[in-house]
Amino acid sequence: MHYRNNHWTHRPHTDKTSLARKFFWGTATSSFQIEGHIENDFTEWEKLGKFVHNNEKVMYENGSNHWMMWEDDFKLMKKLNVNAYRFSFEWARIEPRRNTFDRKALDQYERMVDWLLKHQIEPFLTIHHFTHPTWFHEYSPWHDEKSKDVFLNYVDKIVRIFKDRIKYFITFNEVLVWVMAGYGEGNFPPGHKNLDLMMNALYNILKTHCETYDLIKSYNENAEVGVAKHFIVFKRARDWFFLDKEVQNRIHYFFNVMELDAFKNNILSCSLPPLLKFEKEIDLNNKIDFWGINYYYRLYTKFKFSLKNPFYFYTKNPQTDTGWEIYPKGLYKIIKLVSTYRKKMFITENGIATQDDELRKKFIKRHIKFLIKAIENGFNVQGYFYWSLIDNYEWLFGKSKRFGLISVDYEKNFERHITQNGYYYSQLISKYHEKITM
Ligand code: BGC
Repeated sequence: MHYRNNHWTHRPHTDKTSLARKFFWGTATSSFQIEGHIENDFTEWEKLGKFVHNNEKVMYENGSNHWMMWEDDFKLMKKLNVNAYRFSFEWARIEPRRNTFDRKALDQYERMVDWLLKHQIEPFLTIHHFTHPTWFHEYSPWHDEKSKDVFLNYVDKIVRIFKDRIKYFITFNEVLVWVMAGYGEGNFPPGHKNLDLMMNALYNILKTHCETYDLIKSYNENAEVGVAKHFIVFKRARDWFFLDKEVQNRIHYFFNVMELDAFKNNILSCSLPPLLKFEKEIDLNNKIDFWGINYYYRLYTKFKFSLKNPFYFYTKNPQTDTGWEIYPKGLYKIIKLVSTYRKKMFITENGIATQDDELRKKFIKRHIKFLIKAIENGFNVQGYFYWSLIDNYEWLFGKSKRFGLISVDYEKNFERHITQNGYYYSQLISKYHEKITM
């Protein structure tokens, strides 16, 4: 059984010649989290009062107003010394009614992409980052196969326009995280709590990725198409206890490895008894040019005597405003794990929610240290994107969690400022850029 392997000790794939490649230094965002002026499945839910944190309603209130202030934001981004930017288009804005596309929205995205290109910033476009048009879940939810064609119809529209301007596409952001929220926990729309439907949705999305891959390549065979995946380092609570080890292995397999294996072996399978058992052939045929790594923290896993749910997770040393442990070495471990699948890698997200500049500085410094070590050891990582360019709306928490290198004053008309950390990141870029590119 796959999950019994110790995936951390697979022989890593290294390639010393990769040091000679171009390296992308960037920041990342997603459309809904920053743009504002959107009506999608999340704003519908907000109207219904479904987002509540600590007994308070979580309010979107036009995110960081980036839709109106994008040019100011891009000018500030340019000052950070970056040569790449990962962002997404808002599907609900482009296709507010099924098969009716909003030309004005597309025009603005064209202006944005042109601005980036003019300023030598490589656009990395995420096509799907958690949100949907309001009609989507009713008409063609992801657990229904019909969703594939509906999505491809949308993708065709945007790739046709941007094929000569965008080379790097991330089809989906964190497929597993999204299906777990939308179909497992039910705290994202469409709000199901049904693990069978969850696996169907996961299956359909992965298949949709493949067809999106082919579609993009049919427009531009030099395009690079990948997926951004969330990785967590899981540590067992008690080294001496075999059941903790079993739990750790199974959770690690489900969360970190299952999708990577599915691309390689054409089987999607997992076993988390008694909650979930799934095994089904899936023709993915390794159709992926790169893995995007989103990495934030480590979690502890522990067995518990319960027939219904025999394990749980906890954080040992929460240090960030989202209550996560800071574990920089984990970035190296994840790179090593993903390298065994022999695809190039980008760190598509890595960041911290804090109001403490010193803590963020330390976070960035220590993670980049491990990134450089991985590159020097020959792992094929070709870019790093700090999450996030700018303070934004954090799912389920609202705007109190500040991830940005650029701060936003929500009380003062969304005023922005580059933080000390922003300048620090730009210095690190200068320091390391020469070292890892030739
Ligand atoms: C998501 C982002 C999110 C970040 C911090 C990632 O899982 O892709 O949208 O803001 O984590 O929680």
